[in-house]
Amino acid sequence: MTPEAFRQYGHQLIDLIADYRQTVQQRPVMAQVEPGYLKAALPPAAPQQGEPFDAILKDVDGLIMPGLSHWQHPDFYGYFPSNGTLSSVLGDFLSTGLGVLGLSWQSSPALSELEETTLDWLRQMLGLSQQWSGVIQDTASTSTLVALICARERSSDYALVRHGLQGQDQPLIVYVSAHAHSSVDKAALLAGFGRDNIRLIATDEAYALCPTALEQAIEQDLAAGNRPCAIVATCGTTATTALDPLRAISALAQQHGLWLHVDSAMSGSAMILPECRWMWDGIELADSVVVNAHKWLGVAFDCSVYYVRDPQHLVRVMSTNPSYLQSSVDGQVKNLRDWGIPLGRRFRALKLWFMLRAEGVEALQARLRRDLDNARWLAEQVRAASDWQLLAPVPLQTLCLRHCPEGMAGQALDAHTRAWAERMNASGDAYVTPAVLDGRWMVRVSIGALGTEKEDVQRLWARLQHVVQG
Ligand SMILES: Cc1ncc(COP(=O)(O)O)c(C=O)c1O
Repeated sequence: MTPEAFRQYGHQLIDLIADYRQTVQQRPVMAQVEPGYLKAALPPAAPQQGEPFDAILKDVDGLIMPGLSHWQHPDFYGYFPSNGTLSSVLGDFLSTGLGVLGLSWQSSPALSELEETTLDWLRQMLGLSQQWSGVIQDTASTSTLVALICARERSSDYALVRHGLQGQDQPLIVYVSAHAHSSVDKAALLAGFGRDNIRLIATDEAYALCPTALEQAIEQDLAAGNRPCAIVATCGTTATTALDPLRAISALAQQHGLWLHVDSAMSGSAMILPECRWMWDGIELADSVVVNAHKWLGVAFDCSVYYVRDPQHLVRVMSTNPSYLQSSVDGQVKNLRDWGIPLGRRFRALKLWFMLRAEGVEALQARLRRDLDNARWLAEQVRAASDWQLLAPVPLQTLCLRHCPEGMAGQALDAHTRAWAERMNASGDAYVTPAVLDGRWMVRVSIGALGTEKEDVQRLWARLQHVVQG
């Protein structure tokens, strides 16, 4: 494609995205297609000769669009908000268009320095002290993996430069809440701890990690000759947005010299609101924290921000220094390849920078406050309705609901819950997530898509009451 053809089709593509965003509400929220629909429609091999770009755009409309569930739809209440503000979409587009890579500072100085600067802006917005330094990872899964590798290396005195975990005579133990995200379990497994050395700690009635259970587990491990290594606490769990008590947990981490990583992937965005910061009281005593700026905050996926208190340790664990990547300024700059797993780095900071500059902190705060108000409103309606149950506290924008017709319980109630959630999603009117809590099905309603206003949430409540009737 020549730059001239790019100019022509680029304009068309921007129009397509703008039209899509303006009219997305007219589409069914959940894709209405059967498995295999796209594979059956596509040729089995790549074309030998290039095709006109118009033909590609026609297939975007005819084949791709019907197979999308629309995360930017105002009636999207599934999983979590993954907002791609249009300002950040432009930053992402520019990043790809420039086609630069950050292998080292020298390979694209602006890439490294913009990442450093924007993450410092974001640090201040989140109310974190100057002790923290940040780097952008792709997802929270990667950030947590990096954290647990760093924890492992701190406890084993950098065993990676000797025999790795295979040289350890005491197993290293990781403690996580029974409600931690599956990515925490996966990170612990991939970091080599082993299933037998992951302790799932009990939670209280609000689904938050119980510090006394944590203390007991640590003491049992010490008595058994094991080596406690790391705690992963969650600020805003996936199922219910429960808040693990960071201050009490950090006291145990300090007492026993354990690494404390805080998974704040979802709720970290709320920390741009000073009134929400009590939720991670104690954060300053953690070693690392992950905040997914690509969730509620609004940076186009992917932009997971990983902050650490001891960047020198991170660099010591992650650094590689082959001759072809060395430069004369290495002593004066940050080489972000040493701050995580991949060598090649996209210019992800551009989309964060575009969003922060185009929207401004106050507008971001106002949007999050709107979503919190809407969640509080819906929670009040559910509490007031005798045939509905709210199953967990609502500190943020996620509600866990169950419709309980009189006399219905057990498996019949499960079947009812799953059936109405499926009806709701299949209708295309709204998208919610059924999930299991305490062994029983419930429905999560996660408020916070960019376009979701109060009237949309009011309409959702009416739809919920209707859809449960069958
Ligand atoms: C609390 C929490 N941690 C981690 C993750 C995983 O995020 P990612 O997809 O960025 O790996 C999620 C995603 O839903 C989450 O809610």
